[in-house]
Amino acid sequence: MVNWDEIENYAKHWIKEAGERIRDSFKMELVIETKSNPDDLVTNMDKETEQYFIEKIHETFPTHKILGEEGFGDKIQSLSGITWIIDPIDGTMNFIHQQRNFAISVAVYEDGVGQIGLIYDVIHDELYHARKGKGAYFNSTKIKPLEDVPLEKAIVAINATWVTENKRIDPKILIPIVNAVRGTRSYGSAALEMAYLVTGRIDVYITMRLSPWDFAAGVVLLNEVGGVITTLDGKPLNLLTENSVFVARPNLHQEIFSNFLKRK
Ligand code: IPD
Ligand code: CA
Ligand code: CA
Repeated sequence: MVNWDEIENYAKHWIKEAGERIRDSFKMELVIETKSNPDDLVTNMDKETEQYFIEKIHETFPTHKILGEEGFGDKIQSLSGITWIIDPIDGTMNFIHQQRNFAISVAVYEDGVGQIGLIYDVIHDELYHARKGKGAYFNSTKIKPLEDVPLEKAIVAINATWVTENKRIDPKILIPIVNAVRGTRSYGSAALEMAYLVTGRIDVYITMRLSPWDFAAGVVLLNEVGGVITTLDGKPLNLLTENSVFVARPNLHQEIFSNFLKRK
């Protein structure tokens, strides 16, 4: 029998400790490098944080697999067994430019099913956490299930990239959604955007390209409050590849999908 309480306690302890190391790093100079393009940034703290988790997990749970953004974990071909999915710093551009609006995202899945989801807002010392079937929490406060919100009162998180010419979607599909809602926001951290949706601060989140470590923890939280997450085509997310992502309160997911996204 898997002792999920034990895994959760370790995960929470490690995420807080990793956050403290990141806060301490502000006193030191950052080493900034680029990855796939000049705007795809990584720092020594992204790498060190991922390595910190890997060391702890290997030491404590040697049979568990790890999928981490920076590639220090395992080469994952399937989600059989227990897999940790880690984004050591989600919102690296914010981390570098603003020293805020970033998070550590840690999820633990068993045979492809999310069991634990943690999103830690390091600067505010705010932990969003959930266990499958046990509810979602903001620090020690239980988060209420998501209620319906009318489209015209909704706030949508969307990056301006997707409503201008881009390679992934015809902006004409998304512009009517932006016009129909109350307002838009973009925070630059997918994990925080999902945490904000779970806590009702935003109502919809649309993006064209996320990796499993960006949304794995968010999915566990979202399931506990009745949020709906699919690709923009309305299909389930694949935890081994990149996906487009459409997250919303249940009524808004249904309404936006039927009226704006579904191919007619
Ligand atoms: C990025 C952030 C950003 C999202 C990108 C992600 P990173 O993660 O979540 O908000 O739009 O797609 O790659 O690179 O800062 O971990
Ligand atoms: Ca990320
Ligand atoms: Ca990252």
